[in-house]
Amino acid sequence: MSEPLDLDFVVVRYPDPVLRQVAQPVTEFGPELKRTAEAMLQRMIASKGVGLAAPQVGLSTRVLVLNPNGERGPDDLVLVNPAIAAKAGEDTWYEEGCLSFPGIYAEVKRPDRCTIRFQDLEGNAIEREFDGFTSRIIQHEFDHLEGVLLVDRMSPADRLRHRAALQDLVESWQKSAPTARVR
Ligand code: CO
Repeated sequence: MSEPLDLDFVVVRYPDPVLRQVAQPVTEFGPELKRTAEAMLQRMIASKGVGLAAPQVGLSTRVLVLNPNGERGPDDLVLVNPAIAAKAGEDTWYEEGCLSFPGIYAEVKRPDRCTIRFQDLEGNAIEREFDGFTSRIIQHEFDHLEGVLLVDRMSPADRLRHRAALQDLVESWQKSAPTARVR
């Protein structure tokens, strides 16, 4: 798709409360959903990410986009209403980043494989197994739909190591969203 988009998302950063909400299931599989997914993919690539969850663009809805190559192409994946049906394989540590935590990276332990039940943009039900980096991205992005964040998954030592950077994010958010403080 190369049509110009009328949606231009910005990435919501920690500690915006939308990142803590449990996202709502998608019920309408129409053009709006397709536009949202396309705009999320464009935002992901423009931000040099490999995955993005709808809450990260301020939408509390159960949509994930990813591309493990960090580029547009046949590996683009859009998962609507994903559910983790099974996890398998060895627990593996891997350094994760998150567009909502710019500049912060931390080792997170997750199982290597996962089986995901999801819907595509047409609403078709699909079940697929993923492994390696793609499985890692999906598990990270799925956390976003449950309001679970990188800061929750990192070790206490990493949380301490990143304390100043996390505090900087809190202060930047408070400055950029003054009304949100009184919510
Ligand atoms: Co993330």
